[in-house]
Amino acid sequence: MAVYDRIGRDYRTTRRPDPRIAARVGAALAGATSIVNVGAGTGSYEPAETVVAVEPSSVMVAQRPAGAAPCVRGTAEALPLSDGAVDAALAVLTVHHWTDVDAGIAELRRVARRRVVVLTWDQAVLRDFWLVREYLPAAAAVSAGHAVPVARLVELLPGARIEPVLVPHDCVDGFGAAFWRRPAAYLDPAVREGISMLAQADPRDLTDGLAALAADLESGAWQERHRDLSSLDMFDAGYRLVVSGPG
Ligand SMILES: C[S@@+](CC[C@H](N)C(=O)[O-])C[C@H]1O[C@@H](n2cnc3c(N)ncnc32)[C@H](O)[C@@H]1O
Repeated sequence: MAVYDRIGRDYRTTRRPDPRIAARVGAALAGATSIVNVGAGTGSYEPAETVVAVEPSSVMVAQRPAGAAPCVRGTAEALPLSDGAVDAALAVLTVHHWTDVDAGIAELRRVARRRVVVLTWDQAVLRDFWLVREYLPAAAAVSAGHAVPVARLVELLPGARIEPVLVPHDCVDGFGAAFWRRPAAYLDPAVREGISMLAQADPRDLTDGLAALAADLESGAWQERHRDLSSLDMFDAGYRLVVSGPG
C-alpha cells in the first residue's frame, strides 16, 4: 500500500498550497509551457502549465480538485513519459518518500527538456527547529531517516542552484515547520496527521513531548524561551528549492 493511502486520507484539510511559496515555485518554473508534476498528491503548487501529474496514491489522487491536470498513477522511478516530453519537471515535498532518489531524479532529467525543480528540506537546518529539538526527537529521527541531502540532489542535478524558501508566520500549507510561530497547532491531531514526520512516528514516542509542549504553552515557558520568534514574519526552517537547467 502506498504510504499516502494510509496517512493522506485528510490531506487537503491541512495541506493547501501557500500562495507565497507557490509564487516561488512558479518563478523557478518561469517560461515553461509544459510541466509534469511528480509526486503531485492533491495538486498543491501545480502550475497551470502542468500537462500531466504523476502520483502513486489513489487516496491522494481522489482528493485532486475538479479541473486539475490529468493524473497518472505511477512513481518517479518509472515515469510514464517519453524522453523530453515536457519543458520542466516539478517535485514538491516528495523526494523523501521515493524508494530510489537517484532513479527518480534521472527520470525527471530524462523527461524534462529544460528544467527540473525540486522543493525539499535541509535536515541540517530542520533538526534545529524547536519542535523536534526540544519536544519531539522521535519526529526528528523520522525526518532524518527520510531526508535527502540537498548536496546529493545537486550532484544528481549538476549546476543546480539552491534557493532558501522561508516559511511565512501564517503559512497556509501545514507542513512540518509551518506552525513555527503557532505552537498550539501541533497539539491538534488533525494537524499532526498532515505532517509525515509526525504521522509516521510511533504515537507513543510523541506523547511525552506533546504533553511537555502543552504544559510549556500553559505556563508561558515556551513563549518566554522563544520570544525572539514573535517579532519574525518569516523563518528559515531549512526548506530549499533546487533548480536545475537554463532559464
Ligand atoms: C507530502 S506529499 C506532497 C504532495 C504534493 N506535491 C504537495 O506538495 O502537496 C508527498 C507525495 O509523494 C508521493 N510519493 C510517494 N512515493 C512516491 C514515488 N516513489 N514517486 C512519486 N511520488 C511519490 C506520495 O504519495 C505523496 O502524494
